[in-house]
Amino acid sequence: MKLSPQTIQAAVDAAHSSSAPNIGGANANYIPYLASVPSELFGVAVMTPDGRLYKAGDTDYAFAIESISKVFTLALVTELIGSEAVRQKVGTTPTGLPFNSVMALELHNGKPLSPLVNAGAIAIVSLVSGVSADACWAKILDMQSRFAGRPIALSDEINQSEQTTNFHNRAIGWLLCSAGTCYSDPMRAVDVYTRQCSTLVTTTDLAVMGATLAGGGVNPVTRLSVVAAANIPHLLSEMTMEGLYTASGDWAYQVGLPGKSGVGGGILAVAPGKLAIAAFSPPLDLVGNSVRGQAAVAYIAKALGLNLFGS
Ligand code: DON
Repeated sequence: MKLSPQTIQAAVDAAHSSSAPNIGGANANYIPYLASVPSELFGVAVMTPDGRLYKAGDTDYAFAIESISKVFTLALVTELIGSEAVRQKVGTTPTGLPFNSVMALELHNGKPLSPLVNAGAIAIVSLVSGVSADACWAKILDMQSRFAGRPIALSDEINQSEQTTNFHNRAIGWLLCSAGTCYSDPMRAVDVYTRQCSTLVTTTDLAVMGATLAGGGVNPVTRLSVVAAANIPHLLSEMTMEGLYTASGDWAYQVGLPGKSGVGGGILAVAPGKLAIAAFSPPLDLVGNSVRGQAAVAYIAKALGLNLFGS
């Protein structure tokens, strides 16, 4: 079915208005900054690979990218070392356990299994070469910017809030180190991982980033190739398996699109070759996924007939 601009905008508007009354969930509070973001903010955006943007609500509000960043660093490392090396060194299988699980590591001899849980994402960061943390960070920030089609910046306030509270992730870094699955100094990897979670994006930025994935790795705004088309299926399959953490299976069953959430309230879903759907609303469910964000994305996926398993 060819989707007209009117059809897409109507779905975005209806997704926003029908999901807005859902006041369930609560802001993440284990990172102090996130607890302070106004809970009522709610934005929804869709972008197609030809660069058309459809939006409703607070799509210009800049929020913490958090775990959604894991996809873009995975893209960088897949480009740098290849998909097979990612599979061997980090793993590419869901853990079935929460995103910051230590038990998942213990159960698999310190192999993270998934690049989209914290342990795997820290291991992925440790695979970004560079003489210093800053050199490694520059590559990751550049990748986020190339996906967004504009310069993305670190929020010093968010980074400070995370760096002073990330003890659990530091413990994960040392566990990786003891198992031989951290490939740089573990505290450097955790430092840079924490920075990658602390950049600011808008819902519109997320839609552009997702449309780059939907469009075979070509950014719809800059028209530059950001990631090889051959690597896109690896990224989208990871998003399908682990993008919404322990809810990923239910998400695939009900919505049928690769997705990725962050505890900042952002969520991104990709309909390959067609479009990307982004949403932002801070209150999260118990798994760590935005309540309104999931509802809005699910609405649009259904309204536009995007379920991958139904095509
Ligand atoms: O490492 C953390 O805990 C956060 N910086 C990011 C976690 C996150 O976004 C998980 N998402 N749902």
